[in-house]
Amino acid sequence: MQPEFIIIHQQVAPFVAHIQLNRPKELNALNLQLMTELKDALKSLDADDSVRVIVISGNDKAFAAGADIKQMADKSAMDMYNIDQFSTWDTIKKTKKPLIAAVSGFALGGGCELVMLCDMIIASETARFGQPEIKLGVMPGAGGTQRLTRAVGKALAMEMVLTGKFITATEALNAGLINRIVPVELYLQEAFRLATEIAAQSPLAVRMAKESVLKAFDSSLEEGLHFERKNFYLLFASEDQKEGMQAFVEKRTPVFKGK
Ligand code: CAA
Repeated sequence: MQPEFIIIHQQVAPFVAHIQLNRPKELNALNLQLMTELKDALKSLDADDSVRVIVISGNDKAFAAGADIKQMADKSAMDMYNIDQFSTWDTIKKTKKPLIAAVSGFALGGGCELVMLCDMIIASETARFGQPEIKLGVMPGAGGTQRLTRAVGKALAMEMVLTGKFITATEALNAGLINRIVPVELYLQEAFRLATEIAAQSPLAVRMAKESVLKAFDSSLEEGLHFERKNFYLLFASEDQKEGMQAFVEKRTPVFKGK
């Protein structure tokens, strides 16, 4: 069956595939179906010998504005625990081939977390990164507290996670979150160029080198991610989560009560 919310482009360059997130009206908000389609596509490209590197992008305005708030807004903690929406992320994380995120516009919440799950990040000058979940009465749940902290350090990660502020592409580059910034009309081309350079190397060496680089900072990540996920789901027991997400849907400022 053809995916609905992603577009798969095979051979955009020799041995390079491109997955484009495609819910433009919703700024590529990551609903359950999109994440399942992404997981399935990555699994199949990972097993395809004609593909050595995979580029993931959104569009010029948004890589992705996070998990789909409207899909989560009325869920209970038990619903969240049972749906376990982040279990698809475990499969995505297992992708053996290098993943390059080509980011323009918003990469927020789950969008920023998906970018950080990739191995390299090429950003356009309009890219904005953020973990704004705190403004919804919740917290990052797909790796944000762990991967962002490892990438940019405690001080900036704490500020971004606790205030929800967005950072610019230049701030992200200075903090070590991304590889480089290019003009908006070139970010995809630059991601494909980098992918082509890697695709020309030995696929086996590339695979083992990727595995080894990830090992360098992965040792206690599992524990942190597990801890984070439980807390994210648990926050759906709070009134503040209902208020935060409802306020987003109603386009008003939330009033949090700490309950
Ligand atoms: N979920 C669902 N819908 C979303 C969305 C999201 N994360 N982000 C944007 N949309 C929808 C909007 O509701 C709007 O839909 P309607 O036209 O039907 O009203 C449409 O996309 C366009 O968005 P805006 O009108 O808000 O666009 P804007 O340019 O004025 O603002 C924005 C852009 C600042 C990114 C704003 O949309 C925004 O703040 N989005 C939410 C960002 C966010 O909080 N992300 C975290 C989600 S929770 C999460 O990701 C948990 C996790 O750890 C995985």
